[in-house]
Amino acid sequence: MIIRRAEPNDNKALCLLDSLCTQGQGLVFSYQRVDFFLRPRLYDNWAVYLAEENGSVIGSISTSLKKVRLGSAYVDVGYFFDLRVHPDQRRQGIAVDLIQAAAEHVLQIGAQYAYTYVLGSNQPALTLVSKLNMFTAASFRVFFLSTLDESSGNQALSRSFNRGTTSDAFINAENYFKNYDFYPRDSILSSFSGSQPALPSSFPQSFCGYFNLPAGSSVQGALWDSSVLSPKVIDRVPLALQAAAAMPLFVRKLMGLPRMPPKGKPLRIHHLFDVVWEEVNPGQALNLITGIRACAGIDGGQIVICHLDKRVPLCDHLKKQAFYIMEGNLLLRTPLAGEKPLPVSRAYFDVRDF
Ligand SMILES: CC(C)(COP(=O)(O)OP(=O)(O)OC[C@H]1O[C@@H](n2cnc3c(N)ncnc32)[C@H](O)[C@@H]1OP(=O)(O)O)[C@@H](O)C(=O)NCCC(=O)NCCS
Repeated sequence: MIIRRAEPNDNKALCLLDSLCTQGQGLVFSYQRVDFFLRPRLYDNWAVYLAEENGSVIGSISTSLKKVRLGSAYVDVGYFFDLRVHPDQRRQGIAVDLIQAAAEHVLQIGAQYAYTYVLGSNQPALTLVSKLNMFTAASFRVFFLSTLDESSGNQALSRSFNRGTTSDAFINAENYFKNYDFYPRDSILSSFSGSQPALPSSFPQSFCGYFNLPAGSSVQGALWDSSVLSPKVIDRVPLALQAAAAMPLFVRKLMGLPRMPPKGKPLRIHHLFDVVWEEVNPGQALNLITGIRACAGIDGGQIVICHLDKRVPLCDHLKKQAFYIMEGNLLLRTPLAGEKPLPVSRAYFDVRDF
């Protein structure tokens, strides 16, 4: 088995491997990517490694180097993602070797830390990261919300593709997240300028805009369509959701269940992120989110998901709208050694990471 940098002509094999590697239990998706490199290309500084045996691709890992806020300073941090090992080749130490290659790479280019995410139901990966001395820096929840139809979206949202010029709410977003760790200094979204978004070619049609309620409200949310970068199909549905899906329409609506496509059919997932709101007025935030869910529905989406640090008070409100919630951990360590890094405060979740 060798580990080497992936090249463009490895794309097909990497996509096939990716489609075989589902994660966790419960509601499980299978990736159906056609360009494996689209995701890493969202970052300025990326590399993909693969494990190969007898000419077959049996493992992968992607890395990027990001400047993120940790404590009071921005530090260079390696982000590890797309860790996959072929189902027939597991428990031979391939994942450990891939992580080692990724860690050496990010260390060489200046990373002080490395981080990754693991779903709470992904027992193999949880055991793996604990063996590698990665520490839970933050726990997060993934809220799954159904999209809504047009009639529910009567909140008259305003939409913009430009963070800088539309209203104070947009301008204050960075300020709003100033106490969050893992806030990226060079977020791809912060590069938008002018009335049209200057979308990089690796970022096609994904960003659906920033939304706010008009007339002086200080709530804001943004929407991203991940089906371009990470097309998915449903692989497994938990029994409780299967049973709920068999209920009459009005019950399903009451439970906030989405229109799930049949197995094997592509699922359109939108990501809600950068939600700026005031704790004293959760009603406004929930109005905004209802409107955004309707926009995602009009856009052809079935599900809106939102990743939030468990400690963020918005979690309490979102769980009332969610039809499904996943748990996960953000894991951090120094790239090679296993020293325990500084404790971190609330984590910001960069939408590109998902
Ligand atoms: C998670 C995954 C990458 C592990 O790959 P792997 O090559 O089998 O892992 P390794 O052989 O390097 O395992 C190293 C250690 O991790 C732990 N581990 C790995 N798989 C495990 C499993 N199924 N059950 C329990 N522990 C497991 C063990 O401690 C193992 O050491 P051991 O075999 O000496 O006991 C692989 O199962 C996979 O591709 N899963 C689907 C995609 C995924 O979940 N990616 C990770 C996203 S965070």
